[in-house]
Amino acid sequence: MVFGKLFGKKKKAETPVTDSIPDDWNRADQKPAVAADGPSSVCFENHDKTHECASGVTILEVAIAAGIDLNHYCGGMASCGSCMVTVVSGEVSELDDMEEATLDVVLEDERDRLGCQCRVLGPVTIIVPPQD
Ligand code: FES
Repeated sequence: MVFGKLFGKKKKAETPVTDSIPDDWNRADQKPAVAADGPSSVCFENHDKTHECASGVTILEVAIAAGIDLNHYCGGMASCGSCMVTVVSGEVSELDDMEEATLDVVLEDERDRLGCQCRVLGPVTIIVPPQD
């Protein structure tokens, strides 16, 4: 472990990941609005939980509201890939360039999406991989 000795071990955050998004965080300000309206839902298949939400919100926002642990180390900026989920079924927003660039690095399954970028456009079923 030469790198471990040179650079030290990474410390785990003491603050729960779901508490690390600032109150005024709003990724919607930084990307074009998604044409979506009305109620929707996300079924977290491997948690046996379905959470109602508004269409147009991100999967990460729904996960936080539902109390599902979903990492988001970069704060939803599409740069870390820690919020990756597998979309099993349902209608979600298209990939944008930023999400596609990050997925090029971290993609494990063709259905994988970044929870912080992927917006719910109808009832959706997802799988959240095991979190750190
Ligand atoms: S939170 Fe970092 S890519 Fe989604």
